[in-house]
Amino acid sequence: MDKVISESIGAFSQHYPRVAIIVTAHAGGRDNAMAVAWHMPISKTPPLYGIVVSPKRFTYELILASKEFGINFLPAEQAELVAATGGSKGSEIDKFKAFNIAKDSSVKTAAPILKAAYAAYECRLVDDRLYGDHRLLVGEIVAVHYLEEAFMEDETLNLEKVKPVLYLGSEHYLGISECAIRTLDRESCANRLRS
Ligand SMILES: Cc1cc2nc3c(=O)[nH]c(=O)nc-3n(C[C@H](O)[C@H](O)[C@H](O)COP(=O)(O)O)c2cc1C
Repeated sequence: MDKVISESIGAFSQHYPRVAIIVTAHAGGRDNAMAVAWHMPISKTPPLYGIVVSPKRFTYELILASKEFGINFLPAEQAELVAATGGSKGSEIDKFKAFNIAKDSSVKTAAPILKAAYAAYECRLVDDRLYGDHRLLVGEIVAVHYLEEAFMEDETLNLEKVKPVLYLGSEHYLGISECAIRTLDRESCANRLRS
């Protein structure tokens, strides 16, 4: 089948699924939370994590003021909270009050850690750069909170216990009802495809 070729990224901008997270920040007596789908690990030593945030977001103002942020990985049951924090502005409402968001105590920063998160990072901002219409904010992870039972011995997610929020773009989220995990040995796959 022939593919459509376009010079505009808008023709294919829904490059999902991706795990959607909630980024939190605290400054000037205010907590805030927003949904983020554009995020990534950057370095193991030191541990660095990147988030891509529009400078229009209220969360960006709080991160800029505090130089800290929280990264919250939530189970699929919390997809509605992800959508709600991604569809409302902290400049207009207190999302923690409006959505009844429970917090755990943060240990190294003032960034809120969500009780519902199966894993969370507290980050200190180490870089903030504009790329086009978004900013890449890089944080050093200074504390990790996680539910031990959510992970296997090799530190991968135990999908029997927790399924992440998988975002498909637009207003769609993917529910995982059955898990078909394939464990693929890299070397044998390379050998098989070579022949
Ligand atoms: C699932 C989902 C993912 C999102 N991902 C991002 C993102 O990666 N970066 C971003 O700047 N905005 C993203 N947004 C939009 C913000 O979450 C949204 O603009 C939010 O209202 C900002 O809140 P704030 O103004 O209180 O900071 C996303 C929204 C949703 C629903």
